[in-house]
Amino acid sequence: MVFCVKTLSEEDFSFATRLTSKMNWGLTDADFEFMMELEPKGCFVLLCGSEKVGIVTVVSFGKIGWFGNLIISEDHRRKGAGALLAKHAIDYLTDNNVETIGLYAYQDRVSFYRRLGFWDDSEFLVLKGKEFRTFTETKVREARRQNVSEIIKHDRSCFNASRRKSLEPIIMDSDNLCYMFTEGEQLLGYAVAKVSKKTAELGPLICPQGRSDIAIELLGTILNRLCESEVSICVPKKENSIISFLTESGFSESFHVTRMFLGPPISEKCIYVPESLERG
Ligand SMILES: CC(C)(COP(=O)(O)OP(=O)(O)OC[C@H]1O[C@@H](n2cnc3c(N)ncnc32)[C@H](O)[C@@H]1OP(=O)(O)O)[C@@H](O)C(=O)NCCC(=O)NCCS
Repeated sequence: MVFCVKTLSEEDFSFATRLTSKMNWGLTDADFEFMMELEPKGCFVLLCGSEKVGIVTVVSFGKIGWFGNLIISEDHRRKGAGALLAKHAIDYLTDNNVETIGLYAYQDRVSFYRRLGFWDDSEFLVLKGKEFRTFTETKVREARRQNVSEIIKHDRSCFNASRRKSLEPIIMDSDNLCYMFTEGEQLLGYAVAKVSKKTAELGPLICPQGRSDIAIELLGTILNRLCESEVSICVPKKENSIISFLTESGFSESFHVTRMFLGPPISEKCIYVPESLERG
């Protein structure tokens, strides 16, 4: 079987959304449009002859890159297509000076990624919930346009690379929510919710290690604004108090993922809730 890879373009959106809907990833044309804005040459379609059979997207943030949305149509699996497309995306990132590539893998895909050289880093839980109780708000305040640069700088100290290209449009989108926790003049934490019609994805959330109290304040304030939405969030499994807070608030576990890296480890000295599974 002869496979070849091409760059994703607008005409592939309907194929991409149809394919990913089989996994209930809830991706729309707008999601692929955003991925293409972030990384125009880093979104790929796999062809078998003239038939489209798979997609993958990546995004680079300087020396860190993120890998996501890998899917092959069911009737073309187990023929090496997934590995071929994944390697193409990895080569694209390494050719663009990315040193460490991250991804979130379903439990039953971990061995597939290990064979590509990825190593297991840590476990995360994806939780979903709806109709939350009301929280008492204290020190948290809504971020304004003038706070965006400070937030991006703060995010960089945890993520180890600037995510300006993804965070700026996300925070500036008036449908989304962004809250900050400050002590005196100092920004200690922030959280974002990406909001669409009836659903919202919480993340990123960044705050100092050991300060789950800040994370809980940020989460509570955002959930007060999202009482109509079905909300999802991906949380490090080790963050017991955040997970307890979310489950007491009405969330339940949907599935597990393993964060995996290819390349040198990244030092992470903070509480870190991903922005999304596909962008880290
Ligand atoms: C994960 C996924 C992309 C892999 O695609 P694929 O085309 O089947 O991948 P490959 O063929 O390269 O490898 C898959 C398996 O087939 C095996 N394989 C590859 N060529 C083979 C061949 N000629 N004969 C038999 N087996 C073969 C591989 O060893 C691999 O084994 P594993 O399942 O134990 O890891 C595909 O299963 C998929 O789209 N799943 C749904 C979406 C998803 O879960 N994406 C990943 C999110 S983390």
